[in-house]
Amino acid sequence: MIIAIDGPAASGKGTLARRLARHLGRPHLDTGLLYRAVARDLLDRREPLSDPDIATRAAGSLDLAGLDDPRLRSRDMGEAASIVSAFAGVRETLLGFQRRFAGQEGGAVLDGRDIGTVVCPEADLKFYVTATPEERARRRQRELAQSGEPSDFADVLADIQRRDARDQGRPNAPLKMASDAILLDTTELDAEAAFREALGIVESRMRA
Ligand code: CDP
Repeated sequence: MIIAIDGPAASGKGTLARRLARHLGRPHLDTGLLYRAVARDLLDRREPLSDPDIATRAAGSLDLAGLDDPRLRSRDMGEAASIVSAFAGVRETLLGFQRRFAGQEGGAVLDGRDIGTVVCPEADLKFYVTATPEERARRRQRELAQSGEPSDFADVLADIQRRDARDQGRPNAPLKMASDAILLDTTELDAEAAFREALGIVESRMRA
């Protein structure tokens, strides 16, 4: 079974994807890490984030074994990722890997922005996970504090709103809910409640 989970920044899609994958015993790919890693490589090489050709080359030479680098989780890397992820060449270069990951025997859980719309339009189950920008900013601020990066609430909220606008407004694979996705608004749900609700839907789909 292929499960596609999309949604805006800090909506809880990553946590949900990880928990579902662990529960089902299936592999999980956080596709945001791919874009974050492209941005990290450019920054490390002191290359511009704004040049589509240079960014596409960086995507082509990405070391897929290095996705557990803790630096990828920083606030700056999220911002930089949303710049390079707007380039068609970068997205196309990373598409094959994502599709192969999804296509492995027994399926997989992938989370991102365009999994249900572009990467796996044939996914067996699609969730669109969202929450209000304020609640997402609170969560992101908490996560950043836990990873030793304290931040100001107003700044984090502004980051999230800017990133939403960029991800939704780009012409290439913009963030949007697939027409056959199930909407999961987690504003009032903690991680456990969101997981329980999604798991109930997965299990009833598996029985069908
Ligand atoms: O965790 P958070 O939602 O903040 O970020 P992420 O999922 O790691 O994604 C970082 C950035 O990568 C997003 O703002 C998107 O611009 C981009 N991205 C994308 O374009 N397509 C994906 N499938 C995943 C991420």
